[in-house]
Amino acid sequence: MNTTILSLLKCPICGATMTEDTIGRVCRCTGTRVHSYDFARSGYLNLTRPGDGEGDAKEAVRARKLFLDAGYYAPLANTVNDLLSALGAETVLDAGCGEGYYTNRMTSERDVFGVDLSRAGIDTAAKYAKQHQTQAAFAVGSIFQLPVADQTFDTVTNLFAPCSEAEFTRVLKPGGCLILVGAGECHLFGLKEKIYENPYLNPGRADLPTQMQPESHQRLNYRIQVKGREEIEALFSMTPYYWRTSKTDRAKLTDLEELETEVDFDIFLFRKGQ
Ligand SMILES: C[S@@+](CC[C@H](N)C(=O)[O-])C[C@H]1O[C@@H](n2cnc3c(N)ncnc32)[C@H](O)[C@@H]1O
Repeated sequence: MNTTILSLLKCPICGATMTEDTIGRVCRCTGTRVHSYDFARSGYLNLTRPGDGEGDAKEAVRARKLFLDAGYYAPLANTVNDLLSALGAETVLDAGCGEGYYTNRMTSERDVFGVDLSRAGIDTAAKYAKQHQTQAAFAVGSIFQLPVADQTFDTVTNLFAPCSEAEFTRVLKPGGCLILVGAGECHLFGLKEKIYENPYLNPGRADLPTQMQPESHQRLNYRIQVKGREEIEALFSMTPYYWRTSKTDRAKLTDLEELETEVDFDIFLFRKGQ
């Protein structure tokens, strides 16, 4: 495992620091009980605690990978990377990293650790990292109980995932930054127009940090042409509408071979106090 990241982890049971055996199969804590965690074949660790819950299922992970790998959101990945470079972030924790599309693209100049509750997501992310040698490290774990020591990371990124201001503040170094990305008000409006008679704009998010210092808010929006039923279905299944839409409305997408829609991302930057 990336040795810088390993040095920032803590045992999810007793909070002690972690070490790796010489052949990289097991991670053990330095506490008196020596809790041990096996590396999965793809190279990730499972650092969950009882009651942490479960993340996205295999099908959701597969759909998101299919859509993201087609490159529709590459401009967002580039914008986040530009921001990380401007901040001079050397260590990044991607909280709620899913299948690691953004995480694995952040690594060229920094040490990156992706955490998500979805075992399928983390396995996919770790396989990609191994195959492409991105050096990103991954663990199954909760955003609300991150398996990392206090004040260790320069930057936390949190894209389309639950936000825990208390936990992000705990793991950030003094003066460290949080990059928070979510759907802007016009995100996927073209998709909604296809399904609903009266589509509405997305409401602003209600979970923005209140104790950290807001530094900037930028909007990234552009139009995409999603090609083919498989990618359209994959995009639809990534949205909250997937679960709320009637069968009749869903059927409106079935025969669509191409979908043009606006994508609109809100990118917020917050800074922790010194
Ligand atoms: C919409 S996906 C976004 C994934 C990724 N950041 C992206 O943009 O492609 C939301 C992710 O949050 C994860 N998640 C939900 N609750 C979580 C929690 N409490 N701790 C860690 N991950 C969580 C889900 O498993 C899922 O992978």
